[in-house]
Formats: sequence, C-alpha cells, structure tokens
Amino acid sequence: MQYGYFDDEHCEYVITRPDTPLPWINYLGSEDYFGLISNTAGGYSFYRDARLRRITRYRYNNVPLDTGGRYLYVRDDHSGTFWSPTWQPVMTDLKNYTCRHGLGYTTIASEKEDIQTQVRYFVPLGQNLEIWDARCTNLRTTKAELSLFSSIEFCLWDAQDDATNFQRNYNIAEVEVEGSTIYHKTEYRERRNHFAFFSCSEPLTGFDTLRESFLGPYRGWNQPQVVAEGKSRNSEAHAWQPMGSHHVQFVLEPGETKRILFILGYHENPVDQKFTAPGSNIINKKSVYPIIQTWLNPNNVDHAFEKLRQRWSELLSIFQVDTPDLHVNRMVNIWNAYQCMVTFNLSRSASYFESGIGRGMGFRDSNQDLLGFMHMIPERGRQRLLDLAATQMENGGAYHQYQPLTKRGNNDIGSDFNDDPLWLVLAASAYLRETGDLSFLEEMVPYDNRPGSEKPLLDHLRRSIRYTLDRLGVHGLPLIGRADWNDCLNLNCFSDTPGQSFQTTTNREGKNAESVFIAGQFVLAAREMADMVELIGLSDEAEEYRSRAAAMMKTVENEGWDGQWFLRAYDDFGKPVGSKDCKEGKIFLEPQGMCVMAGIGLENGYAKSALDSLNRYCAGDHGIALLWPGFQQYYLHLGEISSYCAGYKENASVFCHANPWAMIAETKVGNGDRAFDYYLRICPSVREAISEIHRSEPYVYAQTIAGPESPDSGEAKNSWLTGSAAWNFVAITQYILGIRPELNGLRIQPVIPQHWEGFSAERVFRGVCFHIDVQRKGNGNTCVLFVDGKKIQGNIVPLPEEGVKSISVLVEIY
Ligand code: BGC
Ligand code: NOJ
Repeated sequence: MQYGYFDDEHCEYVITRPDTPLPWINYLGSEDYFGLISNTAGGYSFYRDARLRRITRYRYNNVPLDTGGRYLYVRDDHSGTFWSPTWQPVMTDLKNYTCRHGLGYTTIASEKEDIQTQVRYFVPLGQNLEIWDARCTNLRTTKAELSLFSSIEFCLWDAQDDATNFQRNYNIAEVEVEGSTIYHKTEYRERRNHFAFFSCSEPLTGFDTLRESFLGPYRGWNQPQVVAEGKSRNSEAHAWQPMGSHHVQFVLEPGETKRILFILGYHENPVDQKFTAPGSNIINKKSVYPIIQTWLNPNNVDHAFEKLRQRWSELLSIFQVDTPDLHVNRMVNIWNAYQCMVTFNLSRSASYFESGIGRGMGFRDSNQDLLGFMHMIPERGRQRLLDLAATQMENGGAYHQYQPLTKRGNNDIGSDFNDDPLWLVLAASAYLRETGDLSFLEEMVPYDNRPGSEKPLLDHLRRSIRYTLDRLGVHGLPLIGRADWNDCLNLNCFSDTPGQSFQTTTNREGKNAESVFIAGQFVLAAREMADMVELIGLSDEAEEYRSRAAAMMKTVENEGWDGQWFLRAYDDFGKPVGSKDCKEGKIFLEPQGMCVMAGIGLENGYAKSALDSLNRYCAGDHGIALLWPGFQQYYLHLGEISSYCAGYKENASVFCHANPWAMIAETKVGNGDRAFDYYLRICPSVREAISEIHRSEPYVYAQTIAGPESPDSGEAKNSWLTGSAAWNFVAITQYILGIRPELNGLRIQPVIPQHWEGFSAERVFRGVCFHIDVQRKGNGNTCVLFVDGKKIQGNIVPLPEEGVKSISVLVEIY
C-alpha cells in the first residue's frame, strides 16, 4: 500500500493523503538556517545549532504525535468555518490534499469549500530565513470573504533550557510588533545580539504574540479562539509564552488568486553594532529592514526558488546514472544524494527521532557522512574535516560529539570510543581521492581547539593510526574502549550490582575487551593512509602502514576467526563475543562486512565463508539483521545492546547503516547478484510498495528496520539522520556500479547483477565529465576499459591532460 508516489521528473515525492503512518518529513535549508517540516506542516526551525539557537518550539513525544509547526488557518468570514490547508492542526476533511516534498522545499496544497490553498515553504540560498509562500484561490462562483491567520510558537533559544526551566522562562520573553513584523527579542537584554522576525507581505487586520490570547484558555492549536471568532487580540507578550500570528483579511472574486508571503528569519546585528545598547532591550531593527523588504517581494521569492531548484540540479548532475533499475536511478540520482546532504548538515542532531538537544555533530557520524557527500561540495567537506580534526585530542582520541555553534567538543558524552579516530583517516582519504588537494595534509589544525597546539592535518591522521596501535589487547586485537561503531556493545562495563546501568564501571576497571571490527577498520584505514603518504613521497612511512595492516590481518585470521565467520570481539574476561559457542549473538554483521571490505580472508576462503554464514543466519526479507540470535535478556558484560528488545536497534534489527558493508563485501568476492539483492531489500523506493509495513518515509533511509525477531518485522525506525545514507550511496555507486575516486584517477570496476546488460553514468570528477558506458559481454566481473576508444590497462582511468573537460569510457565486462 502507498500513501503517495515519486515524481522523478520534478525530483519530488508526492504524498496524496495527510494521514501517513508517521509524519513524513523534509528538511528546509542547507547552510546555516534549517527547518524540519512534516507533510502536515509540523516541525521547527533553528539557526546552525538545534540546541543553542532554536527559533521555534517543538514538543517531543507529543500527543498527537506531530503537533506544533508552521500553521496557517483559512477562515470563511462569511460562514465562520475555518480549516488548516495543511490538514493539521484543525484536521477537517480536505479535498485534493497533496504534499510535495522536494529538494529543500515542501509544498502543501489542498482544497476545502471551493477555496484552493497552496503554501510552499523554503529557505532561499545564502539566507537565514524561511519563506511561506501562500496562495488562495476562489473556485466558487460567488465572491469569498476570507481571513488567513499564521501561527508559530517561539522557542526561547536554548531548546534544553526552554523545555525545562519554566520558573525562569515564564518571565523573560519579549516581543515587539511594528507594521506587519513581529520581532522576538528574548535574550536580547542579556547582550546577545540575535533576534527573530516573523513578517507578512500584507497590511495586518490584527496580530497576536501571546499564546494564551491566541488560543484561549484550555484550547489547542486545533481550535484557536482568535481564529474561531475571526478576530485577533493584538496581544503583545510581556513574559509568558510568546508566539507570532498575523491576521490578514481579503475578498476574492470568483477565480481570483491572492498571494501572501510570510517570512520567518534569524538575525544578528552586524558585529560593529553589536552592543550599541548594552543592557537594553531595544533591538537594532534597521539592519533587518532591507532583508524583510527583499523577501516580501514576490519577484525575489520566485527568483530564489528557481535558484534553489537550479542549485540542486547542478549538485545532482555531478553523478547521474541510467541503469536497468528504476529504484537505483531514483535513489542515486535524487534521494540518496539529497539525504547525504541532510546528514552532512545535521549529523544526528535534529530529526523527528532526535530532539536536537542531546546530540550535536558526531565525530564518527560526521566522518562517515562525508563519504557520501564528498563529491557534491568537497570544499565544505574539507572544512568539516578540519572542524572534526580540531576536536581530536593529543593522544589521537576524539570527543565523540561537538556542538555546531561553538565547534567545541561536547563533554556530556566523553570519548574513548576506540573506532572514532580511524574514521577521520577514512574521511580524509575520501577528500583526497575526490580532489587530489595535497595541501590539505599540511593544513594546521589544533588539538582540542587549543590555541598553540596546531599541527598539520597529517599529524592528526598519524595520531589516529597510532591511537589503535597504542591500544592492543591480549590477542593483539584493538581494545574496544567504551564501544566501537556499535555504541551499545559495551564490553568493559562489568558490575556486580543489580540494576547498575551499562554506563557505570564501579567495582572493577574494565578495559580488556577487544574488537575484531576495529581490527578490520584499522586494516582499511592503514592501507588508505599508506596510499596517502606514498603520494607525498613518504615511502618508508607508507611501507610501515602496509606492514602494520598486514600484521593486523594475520591477527584477525588467527585470533578473530570462529570457524565459519569472524568473531565480533573478546569481552573483558577474554571470552569470545559473536561465536558459535555463544548462546545468543552467535554471529554479528559488522565484522563480516568490515573485515571483508578491508580485504581480509579474500585469499584463504574466510571471506566467502563469512559472507555465506551471514547470508544463512542474518539475511531476511527486510534486510540483514545486525546479529543472530537476538539477546533475550540483559547481560551486564555486554551492556546496552541487550537492553533493547530482540529485533530492535543494535539488538538484532536490520541496521541499515551496516547493511551496505555486506553489499560491498559481496562485491569484493565478486557476487554482484547478492550485493544487489541486499541493496534492494532495504532500498526505500523499493519498500514504498509496502508502506503500511515500512511506515517511514519511502524516499529516505531509516536507521533500522525491525528485525525478524520483532513482532513488527519490516517496520522502519528512526528515519533520516543515519549513516545509512552515506554508506548505501557508497555501496551502490562505488562498489556495485563501481565508480570510485582514487588518488590517481577514477576507478571503474562494476560488480553488477548477472541480469543487467549494462548501464551508463556521468560523473564529474576533478572538473572532468566522465561519460561512462558499461556493457556486459560475459558472466564474470573482469572489466576491460577503453578511454575515448583506446584500450587501457587496469581499472583506473587517469585524468586527461589539462584543458580536457570531458572523456568517454567504455567498459566491457567479461
Ligand atoms: C543508541 C545508538 C546510538 C547511541 C548514541 C544509543 O542509545 O541506541 O544507536 O548510537 O545511543 O549515543
Ligand atoms: C547510531 C550512531 O549515531 C552511530 O554513531 C553508531 O555507530 C550506530 N548508532 C550503531 O550503534
């Protein structure tokens, strides 16, 4: 069953009924100003940091689920009836509801009582504001007397404080109304220089800025008293709960359309005027007038929307494919790339499943997000890498997260996730492979943002590698620390005290647990590191990394092999985790994927055997479960992983982030059929057909899909902000389609399914457009490449000489 359809031509997903199983959301903005918006106009906005600069308020875990947003009310002033053109919050039946989620914008349109309303929400490029572009059309044969009310609830900036510190917050809010603009200036008198403005293109019949006046006592957003009565109170909030509502009245002749613009923006006074009025609550509005004027002009709005569309078409054109599979084309060409942009921007901070309060930019997460983003805007990738590296500590370890506004490591979560540093190497390598920009390695970056501690980026990478080598356990495998990629596999948390949580290490300092996953990741990272330093002439150092990688590979084969698959780890007591001898959690996906991806076991048959075992025990209709069998009870020595019900999250769900590792691994052993089969099992577009089971958005990946041991197996959980975006993009484009940037050219080495006769692609790489045509000639995976008609050796197409902007590559697969 479906709730809409893909409109590939316009790069939109069109939702055709408002009551989707869960709110199906989209993101507005992709630089500094961001908004989340659901298919019924729920959601909120913030400037750069979802925790520290929250512009509008949102309540989590609410009832009904998605309450609060960018709401408009249409009122027939003749009959007194009113409704929400976005369905919520009034929820009256609508005729012809559609929500078009596009790339950076959402348009919701509906009809009710022969009044057609459409509102398009977007953030113009380079601006710190969002536009609500509303149009009402009278489809009646008589004239219509209408009111349009807007509404938002202001958040008092720090979302954490806003949600908890009521005794104070009920006494600080300040607004100001001037003409058609409502200014939200709470915090200003504390000498902060930011405020928000909410403006309308029309003269106002009235306004409200106090929530209680607008809603009326005991009422919710579904029945605001002001809307019901058709009369604003012109309330000005002094403390209590500030909000913004404009009231516009107009008469439409039959067939007539009225366009009304609203803008909601964030503003900081120019630095030189920063504290012009120290301690006062007089905001400097002058600097924002021109902005308001510009964006209430419909021509500028139209132009900005066109520019946004154009920008996305440029970004997407960097990598376009034409394959025999509709889903691949749609995901690679549009939605997967788009999701990679969103995860790049927001890491795991603000979604409908992450409050924006708890988590900032994840070190591990953001590094991996870069893998799917790098080709789009490598300059931004570079900056992100420098920010991440600046939160690294001198011992090579890293803060697990940092706040985007301050770019400082966030101590709430701490460090000691021993996989973290290696992701920096892999992401830096992705940047170098994409751009060839060697100067990057010399860029000076501090440790822990401490002035004076600057060292070249290369030094950071060296310390990342050293971090692992300095921390090897009794089997010679890397110590896991607090956890590796699997946050919830906490093997050093032994505690005898009943009820003691997984995070506490009380009567015994756990530290011995080792990770086979990190071992595989190390092999991968050390080899990429070797290639990087080789390129700048450090051959001895390169040799050192290669021999370390080879040694680690041997250690994994000797100590990390369970007979038919790779072990997951050794716990703090030296007992194997993820072994046939375990009662539960006998086999884990991560080490099978990561080790084979790193090339371990390709020669001695271990790789194939591990992948076959994974297929046998973990692969189901809805994807590959993270482990099998799921843990049925809580185990202190395993930690958080066993706190989940079996089939959910890290306890045996289909973890969509890790599934692509198995896809990539299958390409390493030449099994294109299986790699692609795995790809399709979790592909959102494929799962659109079972939306009643999948329940989450069919245009983006979710973090997990409930695993076979769950009663709601197949239900996707935690959509949007997940490493699934980047890794699925990498798996399909770089390994199955096989188009992968290398330091010395573009590798083209597809491992496609047998039934594909070929595909074509266009990839802009280092300023050159590669027109790629792949043709299957035999049943194997051996590729023969012809560049502009001339056969070349190997799979890497070198860059053409200066000035050549386009080349064509024919690939024959035998
Ligand atoms: C979640 C993990 C997540 C971690 C991040 C845990 O509660 O289960 O998926 O990685 O929190 O802190
Ligand atoms: C989600 C976290 O954001 C990510 O960092 C982690 O690797 C996975 N969960 C697995 O635990």
